[in-house]
Amino acid sequence: MSLIDSATEVFHKAYAPYSNFKVGAALRSVEGRVHQGCNVENVAYPEGTCAEAGAIAAMIAAGDTRIAEVAVIADSPTPVPPCGGCRQKLKEFADADVVVTMATLGGATLQMTVGDLLPGWFDAGHMENVAPGEG
Ligand code: THU
Repeated sequence: MSLIDSATEVFHKAYAPYSNFKVGAALRSVEGRVHQGCNVENVAYPEGTCAEAGAIAAMIAAGDTRIAEVAVIADSPTPVPPCGGCRQKLKEFADADVVVTMATLGGATLQMTVGDLLPGWFDAGHMENVAPGEG
């Protein structure tokens, strides 16, 4: 099954009764396994979680470590991009050259790298001047 097909499979399982906007995400780990996630909303709206976050959690829970490739799909007019927070979450586990395929149910796709999606990303290097616990 392609990564887009895997994202589409989990898209249908999304829990999105408040926005009615379902999102499916699938990622292939460097270890070679595919992990899926969908958005899971909550009546306390900020407590909802994105599809990408679910896929990352599934990857880590399965014991895999790094992302090799990502696909995200929604029933959107144009290919659905990861939100800002999810871009930083993806960067935690993906090199800048990892490809993210964004897709619509209608078949449109757009590919960008994690680095393209999050220019100027924050990383541990920005904290080099302080020792852990200092401050
Ligand atoms: N959503 C995702 O799951 N991933 C994204 O990157 C974009 C937004 C979800 C969150 C919320 O459940 C719904 O889409 C509408 O914002």
